[in-house]
Amino acid sequence: MKIYNKKDINYIIICSNIVKDVLLFIKKYIKPGISTGEINDICHDRIVNYHKAYPASLGYMNYPKSICTSINNVVCHGIPDYSCILKNGDIINIDIGIRKYNYYSDSSRMYFVGKPSVEAKKLCIITYKSIFYALNFLKFSRKISIIGCKIQEYVERYGYSVVRDYCGHGIGKNFHEFPQILHFKNNCNIFFRKGMVFTIEPMINIGCYKTIVMNDGWTVKTLDGSLSAQYEHTILITDKGYKILT
Ligand code: MF3
Ligand code: CO
Repeated sequence: MKIYNKKDINYIIICSNIVKDVLLFIKKYIKPGISTGEINDICHDRIVNYHKAYPASLGYMNYPKSICTSINNVVCHGIPDYSCILKNGDIINIDIGIRKYNYYSDSSRMYFVGKPSVEAKKLCIITYKSIFYALNFLKFSRKISIIGCKIQEYVERYGYSVVRDYCGHGIGKNFHEFPQILHFKNNCNIFFRKGMVFTIEPMINIGCYKTIVMNDGWTVKTLDGSLSAQYEHTILITDKGYKILT
């Protein structure tokens, strides 16, 4: 696993601030009637023309768009489309990775379209809280496996399940670096060390953890059709503990 120095970290912080800005900037557009294709174009314009950065997803393994937009039972990697129109009550994850000065940052969050159901809102809140619950247990005497173990412990209390098929990752000079950050019980036996940078990005389902990939080769849905939520942060290990960069 890479250990980043001060100079590297400054660049990763610049990238993280851009991702943060775009996720905040797009919020006012998330309303019934807008298409995910239009959301993609607004984010792309903000990334490229305002921030002079590059969307990391665009062209990544031939992915066709600049962001991922995953609605309701879509777990992740939903492809923005002009025919996909948001409607009242939807929950949508927008996932944005960017590159600038050859460094990367990656973050995603949920947005409510109009008024969500009580169960949808609760799923989003518990998913977000699971990241912070896990971070509470971060100590230099502990291994990376603690993250997944604690996220799983937290969400299963609510009867939710952790998606197994996708994970977080080291990030910095590359979009996806070693190691995989699993969000469920695992044996990743790397101790936390100052200068590590990685994402935590749990995908949490109301029903079963199993997923299915659609024929477009990207869109991942819950196998049982239940709602899914995801939040993602890029996190730096510091001498004091951790810092959420996004
Ligand atoms: N942003 C996703 C992640 O969290 C990766 C998306 S790859 C794409 O790692 F090609 F689907 F955009
Ligand atoms: Co990621």
